[in-house]
Amino acid sequence: MKWENSISKILGVRYPIVQAPMFGVTTPQMVAAAAQADALGSLPLADLPADQCIATIRATKALTPKTFAVNIFVNAIPPLSAELRTQYAQTKQYVAQLAEHHGLEVELPNIDQIKLTDYHDQVDAIIAEGCKIVSFIFGNLDAQSIQKLKAHGTVLIGTCTSVNEAIQLEQAGIDLICVQGIEAGGHRGSFEDHDIPQIGGLSLLAQVCEQVKTPLIYAGGIYNAKTLHAAKVLGAQGFQIGSLLLGTKESSLQEFEKQRLRQANESDVMLTKSFSGRYARGLRNAFIQSMENSGMVLPYPYQNKLTGELRKVARQYRNADFVNIWAGQSIHDYSSKSTTEMIQQLITEAENF
Ligand SMILES: Cc1cc2nc3c(=O)[nH]c(=O)nc-3n(C[C@H](O)[C@H](O)[C@H](O)COP(=O)(O)O)c2cc1C
Repeated sequence: MKWENSISKILGVRYPIVQAPMFGVTTPQMVAAAAQADALGSLPLADLPADQCIATIRATKALTPKTFAVNIFVNAIPPLSAELRTQYAQTKQYVAQLAEHHGLEVELPNIDQIKLTDYHDQVDAIIAEGCKIVSFIFGNLDAQSIQKLKAHGTVLIGTCTSVNEAIQLEQAGIDLICVQGIEAGGHRGSFEDHDIPQIGGLSLLAQVCEQVKTPLIYAGGIYNAKTLHAAKVLGAQGFQIGSLLLGTKESSLQEFEKQRLRQANESDVMLTKSFSGRYARGLRNAFIQSMENSGMVLPYPYQNKLTGELRKVARQYRNADFVNIWAGQSIHDYSSKSTTEMIQQLITEAENF
C-alpha cells in the first residue's frame, strides 16, 4: 500500500492515519504514542477554557517533538432565556432524583454556576501556543477565525456528516475535511443539534467524494485493514481511528469502563442526546434509558454541564450506569496494547492486505 498522498504531505506524517481526538479518553500520552507511530495524534480540547487548553497543549508538547492536531467544538451557544432557566431547573431536579434513587450522592450545579467557553478564546490560545493543525466539529469556524488561523500557517480540518456540510466547509476554504459516517463513536460532528443527518459511511463518503475536491479523511468504523481499504476505495486519503484505541494503555478510561466495553453487544450501541444535549454514540445504560423517556434533555452545552458532576461521581463509584461510555459500531476486543502498537499493527495489516 502506498501511503504517501496529499493528506500525508499536508499533515507532515509518514502514514495518513489520524488518532481521533476523543475528549475524556485521549491523553497527552495517547497523542505522543500516535506520533511515535508516524501517524497524526489529535489532542481534544472540546470546550475547555483557554488556560486549560494551554496547560494540556504544553503537557503534550513535553511528550513529543512532533506536530499534533488540536480539536475544538465550534458550536454557537443558545442564549440563556427565562424559558431555558425554567427548563434547566426542572431537568436538574429530575437528574438529582434519578441519581438519588440509584444511591449516588451528587451536588448538581445551578445554572448561574455554569461556565461556558467561547471558542474564539481557544483559537487565540491555540495560535499563541503555535499549534499548526486544528480540527473542529459542531459547525464551521467563522470567517475571522479561519483568516486568523491561516495567517499563522495553520492547517484546518473541518468535520462533515452530510454532503451539504462538506460543501460549506470547502467553500469556506477549509484545508481538509473529515467525513464522519454514522458508525462513528462519540459525538456526531453535525452542524446542527436537531434533525441531524444520519448517513452511513458507505453512502456519505462516496457522495462527498463526488461533490468536493478537498482531500478527505474518513472517520467511522475503521478497525482493521479491510475497513481502512474500504474507506480508501471510496475516496478517503486519510483514515481516522477512534474506538479502536479505547482500551489502549494510554486511554484514560477506567478499568471498569474498559470491562463494560469488552462486554458490549450490538444492541448496546446507540445514539443519544442524554448526556450532553448533542447526539453521541455510546453504550446504553440506566441513565440513558431514563433520560430518553423523560423528554427533559436540555440543549448543548447546558445538558453537558448539568451531567458533568454526575458523571464524575459515578466514575468514582465505578458505576457504569451513570457514565457516558462512547463507542462506535465496529465492536472488537478493545485491546489494551499501546496506541503505538495498535497503529503499527493496522499499518502492517493494511500493507499485507
Ligand atoms: C470516546 C470518544 C470521544 C470522542 N470525542 C471527540 C472529540 O472530542 N472531538 C471530535 O472531533 N470527535 C470526537 N469523537 C469522534 C472521533 O473523532 C471519530 O469521529 C470516531 O471515533 C470515528 O469512529 P470510530 O469510533 O468508529 O473509529 C469521539 C469518539 C469517541 C469514541
